[in-house]
Amino acid sequence: MKSNGRVQLRVAPGVPLQGSYRPHGDKSLAHRAALLAALGEGESRIDNFLVAGVTRAMLRALTALGVAWELNGEQLIVRGLGIDGLNPPDEPIDCGNSATTLRLLAGGLAAAGVRAMLDGSPGLRRRPMGRIIEPLLLMGVPLTAQDNHAPLALGSGRMPLHALAYQLPVASAQVKSCLLLAGLAAGGPTILDEPGPSRDHTERMLRNLGFRVSSEVLPVGKKTLYRTRLEPPTRLAIPPQKLRLPGDISAAAFLIVAALITPGSQIVIQEVGLNPTRTGLIEALQAMGAELQVRAMGERHGEPIGDLSVRHSALRGVGVSGEAVVRMIDEFPAFGIAAAFARGDTLVRQAEELRHKESDRIGALCQELNILGGDAVETQDGFIIHGMGGLKGGSVDAHGDHRLAMALALAGLAAQKPVYVSGAEAYYESFPDFPQVLQSLGAKASVEVTEA
Ligand code: S3P
Repeated sequence: MKSNGRVQLRVAPGVPLQGSYRPHGDKSLAHRAALLAALGEGESRIDNFLVAGVTRAMLRALTALGVAWELNGEQLIVRGLGIDGLNPPDEPIDCGNSATTLRLLAGGLAAAGVRAMLDGSPGLRRRPMGRIIEPLLLMGVPLTAQDNHAPLALGSGRMPLHALAYQLPVASAQVKSCLLLAGLAAGGPTILDEPGPSRDHTERMLRNLGFRVSSEVLPVGKKTLYRTRLEPPTRLAIPPQKLRLPGDISAAAFLIVAALITPGSQIVIQEVGLNPTRTGLIEALQAMGAELQVRAMGERHGEPIGDLSVRHSALRGVGVSGEAVVRMIDEFPAFGIAAAFARGDTLVRQAEELRHKESDRIGALCQELNILGGDAVETQDGFIIHGMGGLKGGSVDAHGDHRLAMALALAGLAAQKPVYVSGAEAYYESFPDFPQVLQSLGAKASVEVTEA
């Protein structure tokens, strides 16, 4: 659970993982559902909502905009004010450490024409924002920021916004979603071309709400473009929603890798979101020889879901590049641990975007894996891990990154000695009961508050 101080996570080897686990709701879907509910007209109910640091940042923002909401366990009720009903906040909105909150809000508030200042933690202020600022300015959104970083000052603008045809330099669902949300108030279509298949949850959710959004894959020479097109609504009214969110595949990723590397393990993960823009890790692990079965169970609100069963497996190194990188963009910390427990070389290329996540995930992952006895080499746009079938263990640091904290902790399940992760409180951002879930599957995991 949340601690205000520094936390050390200790995970010790020697116990197989057994049992089943149903992950909390997907983080990306939780952000989108909460924001669209706030912009919607009337009461929305979102079940299996992820209650964690990053989604609390979104909920705080809704409060600042005058939107009432209530959490009953994992059920979120939002009383939407409609796109014209938001109040301009007096104070800057604190988006915490959540880039998704800031980037999606920027788009939503641009459509609402609400004046607001969007800010966040020192970590968030380091994340690149030029990628939303440039296209929002092209749409005519009044927006200022120093040096393309937060804080972002949004003014109340003249509507409608301009139609946009824009090529994103990097595949990014946050940027695409920001622009689609802004595009709801545009006077013409919003056409976005991406170099890779970023997650399409916003498109699916908007379609469910009755908006006209299409997706197309276009071959251009030797390359492929992923085009998304939103038609401007004739009247901008967002209906309320009743949703039950699929389980978070990016949380499930840690349990998948945990079972794969820990001898004797066999677990089932239930009701996981299996949107094909998110399943790159499953395919990469299967290519490594993972005994990982997927049982598809159809769709819920336009999002595929299913169960996964995983058992301890002998893994071999693999190569990952191109569109596979985009489809597993959040999973590289966990994947790096699987690669260190595999035999042979794993080569990740065309993944420079990893340097712009909650930490520089190329540098930080390689550095910490080597402390644990691994052999990882950084490259400009990825890394090479010379897998030796295991790690030694030791003391590492989370670099303020939730996914790095959890991935490094997994190594302790099967290393020669325990692993101690300091700065592990970061896991609260996306998976607040991570140690308890490991324990419930049998792992020797414990949490110690090291500084209040
Ligand atoms: C997210 C998109 C991804 C991902 C992040 C969540 C989203 O970021 O890394 O955890 O919900 O749209 P980018 O769009 O920056 O790749």
